[in-house]
Amino acid sequence: MNRTTHDAFEHRFHDAAHRHERAWVFISVVMIAVLFIAAVYLVVHDYGVVAKTTRIYADPNTPATLADFQGSGVKQTGPNSYSVYEMGRIWSWTPGTATPLTLPAGAHVTFYVTSGDVLHGFEIQGTSINLTAIPGVVGHVSYTFDKPGVYYIICNEYCGAGHQAMIGKIIITGRAHA
Ligand code: CUA
Repeated sequence: MNRTTHDAFEHRFHDAAHRHERAWVFISVVMIAVLFIAAVYLVVHDYGVVAKTTRIYADPNTPATLADFQGSGVKQTGPNSYSVYEMGRIWSWTPGTATPLTLPAGAHVTFYVTSGDVLHGFEIQGTSINLTAIPGVVGHVSYTFDKPGVYYIICNEYCGAGHQAMIGKIIITGRAHA
């Protein structure tokens, strides 16, 4: 290889290397953009409802004894707003499927959730509601059901042998206010 052909070869090699480099820079930028968009999408759609802590009790057994958690679970708090109290215990939700929660579509519903023993995962299928039921802690989350129908509460935090039996039921009726 003489000097001239060698230079030409090197030139071609550098050109190819640069093209390669640009391609990979482009691919990594695209990957970062895709991951960013996916993260934003998940935050907005799957975790759009952020649970807040209502109160933390010194004695982890206290919330389970509160009157709110002993009743039917539903309390009307305004013309079109409701509070719902749900307690998880191995292995059921109270109220559970035997006493479904009935709420009108379009209402502003705040769920107050606690646990009487271990960690449970309070999830309402078909919605973005997903919060951890923690002993000694009452968490809350607000939601509006737009479509009438039957919704199931499940436990999504493994809590032992009967974990899959922790089911609750919500019946969403037609709108109370036209
Ligand atoms: Cu409660 Cu799993």
